Amino acid sequence: MSALVISSGTPRLVFLDDHHLPFKANPHWLWWLPLLQAPDCLLHIRPGQRPRLLFCSADDYWHLPAQIPAETWVTHFDIERVSSAGAAWAALGPLDADTAFVGEVCPAEQTPHFAAINSSLLLAQLHEQRVRKTPYEVACQRAASARGVRGHQAAHQAYLAGGSEFAIHQAFLQGCGQREQELPYQAIVGLNEHAATLHYQQLDRSAPPQHRSLLIDAGAGFRGYGSDITRTYASGNATFEALLQGMDGLQQALCAAVRPGLDWRDLHLQAHLLIAELLAAHDVIKADPQQALESGLSAVFLPHGLGHLLGLQVHDVAGFQPTPTTPAIAPPPGHPTLRLTRQLEADFVVTVEPGLYFIDLLLERARNSPLAAQINWPLVDELRQWGGIRVEDNVLVTATGHQNLTREAFKLSETA
Ligand code: GLY
Ligand code: MN
Ligand code: MN
Repeated sequence: MSALVISSGTPRLVFLDDHHLPFKANPHWLWWLPLLQAPDCLLHIRPGQRPRLLFCSADDYWHLPAQIPAETWVTHFDIERVSSAGAAWAALGPLDADTAFVGEVCPAEQTPHFAAINSSLLLAQLHEQRVRKTPYEVACQRAASARGVRGHQAAHQAYLAGGSEFAIHQAFLQGCGQREQELPYQAIVGLNEHAATLHYQQLDRSAPPQHRSLLIDAGAGFRGYGSDITRTYASGNATFEALLQGMDGLQQALCAAVRPGLDWRDLHLQAHLLIAELLAAHDVIKADPQQALESGLSAVFLPHGLGHLLGLQVHDVAGFQPTPTTPAIAPPPGHPTLRLTRQLEADFVVTVEPGLYFIDLLLERARNSPLAAQINWPLVDELRQWGGIRVEDNVLVTATGHQNLTREAFKLSETA
């Protein structure tokens, strides 16, 4: 390919209605431009030439038309203003014969002009470019972490004040200074038993009679980059509180292992061993950690991956292929939800998010399996009311080790 056209994206209408779903820009667009809310724009990239930005500022009195910000980066683009999506395509003009397109929608009449549309090899190559973060991207991720931490601190206060899930969520937004559609993903705010649902999506409007635990998994956005932070708080049960403290300690031990060359699959399996050890130490299971890993017992309590790449997408791309032309590396058998199977390299940003949960569905399956004999059911039935635990930080891999963006942001906010 000698040239590339990237579209920012097109707003989607609600079925049978005349208003739009929240607009989310193409992440490949955002990799070039921090224009989060500029639909129907095109970017034309040709080697040796300045990039052309066909900027759509629609003739529209229902919505505020997008504006080009007064920022330095605009001087690096040749910008042409157009007033509709059709005008952007028309302004593109004739294309070199081997121009590729990357975007969600290519209008039918445009497709014959492209040599490739979302070619999987080209996407793999672009994804590989995104996996190593530049200093600019790391700065954005630090800013997203700082914002997310402010949200978490406000949410924690709302929890301590006895707020509902809804109120805690509102406090998070207020703390971040962002509206919901600006967040990198829908915040997970679960009280008590709801902490057992990995991606709990409801927000109860009334507070429960007792606040036993809160699991909040929520991040903020900055110029398209996200943070992905989880904290769990609990009181009223000595075993659950000890498990929480143990989880925080083992999460930090896992973070400490992050460095270039580390095979993420190994760290994921190490997390299972540490969690099995923790569960055995507190009499939740009766099994040797290695045996708990091999039998699938640890996966009853930890059914998700240890972490994933993080960037313009919360579950960022390029987690499986070591290079764009090598086959994907499969997750270890029995761990199909692991989203990162590569060796770490400097400038990757990953999440480290071990957890343990008392999930009714998985516990019932285990009760009807040979694993049942190794589970302390009376204790598990007591702990179900606290739901579960996850501790999640965002970690930058450096040339010699790592930097924990989340813990640094918490520390900075405490000294501010
Ligand atoms: N917030 C989703 C995740 O932690 O992967
Ligand atoms: Mn998360
Ligand atoms: Mn995550």
